[in-house]
Amino acid sequence: MRILFVCLGNICRSPMAEFVMKDLAEKAGLSHELHIASAGTSDEELGNPVYPPARRKLLEHGIDPSGKTARQLQRDDYRRYDLIIGMERSNLRAMERLFGGDPEGKLHLLLDYTGRPGDVADPWYTRDFESTWRDVLEGCQGLLEKITNN
Ligand code: 4NP
Repeated sequence: MRILFVCLGNICRSPMAEFVMKDLAEKAGLSHELHIASAGTSDEELGNPVYPPARRKLLEHGIDPSGKTARQLQRDDYRRYDLIIGMERSNLRAMERLFGGDPEGKLHLLLDYTGRPGDVADPWYTRDFESTWRDVLEGCQGLLEKITNN
């Protein structure tokens, strides 16, 4: 199964989800079955590494996102992935525009895999990377549960 996490810039929220999900998949012995990546809807941060405070938050939990650089979502990502998971509702709207809708029902919101649907906390203005970590972890845990129970 191929999973793509999507946010605006691909330097904070979606790379956190990518590397948390890779970590959970590895611990569950599923890394060979899951291909996991992330992208941004904008070209603003293209080629940039994971934003330092987001990287520090991952490192606090033993997760190292070294080597990841921001890439922009492409139209053909729709056929290349099975699940395309946005961090907030505006990501879903941007994806529906780019992809021309969601004919195969591949688009989801990360927190829809939790008991508290909504947007993942955006740390860009708040600088609150702990809330983002908590949301991302809970969403990825819910997603893993969903995948393994299917
Ligand atoms: P991300 O965070 O979408 O979680 O990677 C942001 C990155 C860049 C900007 C906003 C949010 N920006 O405005 O450039």
